[in-house]
Amino acid sequence: MNTIAVLTSGGDAPGMNAAVRAVARYGCESNLRVLGIRRGYQGLINNDMYEMNLRSVSDIIHRGGTTLFSARCPEFKTEEGMQKAVEVCKANEIDGIVVIGGDGSFRGARDLSLRGVPCVGVPGTIDNDIACCDYTIGYDTALNTIMDMVDRIRDTTESHDRCSVVEVMGRRAGYLALNGGIAVGATSILIPEHAFDVKTDVIDRMARTQETGKKHFIVMLAEGCADMLREQGFDGAIGLANYIEKNTNVESRATILGHVQRGGSPTAKDRIVASKMGYRAVELLKNGIGNRVVAMQHDEILDYDIYEALNMEKHIDMDIYKIAMHISI
Ligand code: ADP
Ligand code: F6P
Repeated sequence: MNTIAVLTSGGDAPGMNAAVRAVARYGCESNLRVLGIRRGYQGLINNDMYEMNLRSVSDIIHRGGTTLFSARCPEFKTEEGMQKAVEVCKANEIDGIVVIGGDGSFRGARDLSLRGVPCVGVPGTIDNDIACCDYTIGYDTALNTIMDMVDRIRDTTESHDRCSVVEVMGRRAGYLALNGGIAVGATSILIPEHAFDVKTDVIDRMARTQETGKKHFIVMLAEGCADMLREQGFDGAIGLANYIEKNTNVESRATILGHVQRGGSPTAKDRIVASKMGYRAVELLKNGIGNRVVAMQHDEILDYDIYEALNMEKHIDMDIYKIAMHISI
C-alpha cells in the first residue's frame, strides 16, 4: 500500500469531517500518499481529487457536513461507470479507498473491491440504519438536534394547548424517531418497524392523557411511516395533524424537521467515534486488508467483511419502545 484515497458518499452526516481528518492524518503519519476525492463516486469517475497532507484537514473536526463534499452517483452503479472508476484508480495508483457513507455507498465499495480496488467502509449516516453497526457517525448529533428543535416546538405547543406532529428523518428506519421521541417525551411515537393504528396509538393515547389533565401533545413520526400512513388514509404529517384536530378537538400542527437534522457541529460522541473509525480504516488498508466495513458494537470498534456486513440484519430495540409507551402517558 503506497497510496490510499478517501471519499464521502450519500447523505452527509455530522462527524464525517472528523473521520476524513483521522484518515488523512494517520495515513500521512504512516507514510502513505493520501488523496481526497471530492463528491463521492462522482468525483472518482471524474478524477476530481487532490493530495492531502497533515494540514489539509486542519480546522475541520468541529464542522458539520463534509469538506470533501458528497454526492449520489447513479452512473457508478452501471458497469461502464464502475470501469471508469477502476481506470481512474489505476491512473492515480490508488491502492485502497476509505468510503465514508451508508449502506448504498458500501455496495459501491463492495463492487469496487470485486474489481481489484480494495475498499474499507466507514459508517456515516444520521439514520443509524447500517445492520452491522450499533452506531453510525452523525446519529448522535442528529438526535440531539431533533431534541433541541422539538423542545422549541414544545414551548409553543404548550402555550397554545396544541398537538404537534413532528416528522423526522431516518429513511426506512425509526431510530431517530424512537429515541428522539423518548428524549422529548412524545405521547405517541410512530416508526416503520412497529405496526400501528392511528386511532389506538394516537387518538386513544391522547384521550387517556387528557383524562389526567394533559393539554399539549407531541406525536413523533418517522418519515419511513409514509406508506403505512397512506394505507390508513393519511397524507403524511399534515394529514395526520388534520385528523387529530378533527377527532380530539385539540388544535394541531405538523412540522417536518427536514434537513436541519443533517447539519450542525458534531457532538463529542460523533467526533470521537469518527476518529476511531477513520483510524481503524487506515490500519486495515496499511496492512493490506480491504473489502471490510468498520463497525461499532457495544462501544467496541470492529470490522467485518463487506459481504457479511451487507447481509446482516438489524432490529430496533422494541424494549425502548415499550418503555416510552409506559412513561409518556
Ligand atoms: P447511502 O450511502 O447514504 O446509503 P445512497 O444509497 O444514495 O446513500 O448511495 C450512495 C451512492 O453509492 C450512490 O449514489 C451510488 O453511487 C452508490 N451505490 C448505491 N447503491 C449501489 C449499488 N447497489 N451498487 C453500486 N453502487 C451503489
Ligand atoms: O440518509 C440520510 C437522509 O437524510 C435520510 O434520513 C433521508 O431520507 C434522506 O437522506 C434525504 O435525502 P436528500 O438529502 O437527498 O433529500
